[in-house]
Amino acid sequence: MTIELGILAAHVPSICHRENVPDFQQDIVAKMDEISKQIEEIKPDAVILISCHWQSTFHHYVDVSPRHNGILTAFECPDIISDVAYDYPGDQQLGEELVLAGKHARLPVIAVNDPTYVWDYGTVVPLRYLVPNADIPVVNLSITMAAGLEETYKWGQAIGEVLNNSDKKYVFVYSGALAHNLVRGRHHMPTVSEQALDKQFIDYIMNRNWDLAKEMLPQYANVAGVEGGGRHLAMLLGTLEDRYKPSFLTYAQSSGSGNAIMTFEPEKALQGSK
Ligand SMILES: [Fe+2]
Repeated sequence: MTIELGILAAHVPSICHRENVPDFQQDIVAKMDEISKQIEEIKPDAVILISCHWQSTFHHYVDVSPRHNGILTAFECPDIISDVAYDYPGDQQLGEELVLAGKHARLPVIAVNDPTYVWDYGTVVPLRYLVPNADIPVVNLSITMAAGLEETYKWGQAIGEVLNNSDKKYVFVYSGALAHNLVRGRHHMPTVSEQALDKQFIDYIMNRNWDLAKEMLPQYANVAGVEGGGRHLAMLLGTLEDRYKPSFLTYAQSSGSGNAIMTFEPEKALQGSK
């Protein structure tokens, strides 16, 4: 088996609680609800999630905790995300395998197994929709500020190799926005230039021009202020490596950011050869 589904997911604070979702973000939630049904059908052994809000400075962290249990109040927006309890199983063995693969690739990867570590909202929010019953083990990853896009891509390749050589089924969530030069006022779209860049990146992916998407990413990330410097997208490109059929589901704004929901399914032929 392999990565059975890749998901570019949104985590904007205003969708944390379903009852507070504004009209223009309803489709994000509807699409993530649909994806949750797909995940339920796949019955994956684990979900791997990289979050643009777990920003580590030097090391790539892998949360290998056997249980992720805590209460999140987001320090960026405690008025919107407060006292949100979560409790998901972990997968220590898989997490440690990923750490080992990173070390073999000569990357500074460190395991975190600490019951006092509290998840960020980039991890908690999409999982509330994608795995609403909290019944699938989760291994979550940081984005690393000292690592550029190329190193993050390489880390993605190392992770992809572990997951694709396993006899288990996995779902990979890339949690972050596209354009992300934030402004006050949740209803604001990205600028027309930023939207054009987002559209071009999505088009390259949809047309399977993954090399061009990768080539575009550094300048695009810079100009459009892509969330996390585009590291979640470098991870996506590294782990999936043009072996997947992309689907574009929706795009919505949040305070000048562009949030795309996309899924990536294995090609049928590849599935058959596994
Ligand atoms: Fe974010």
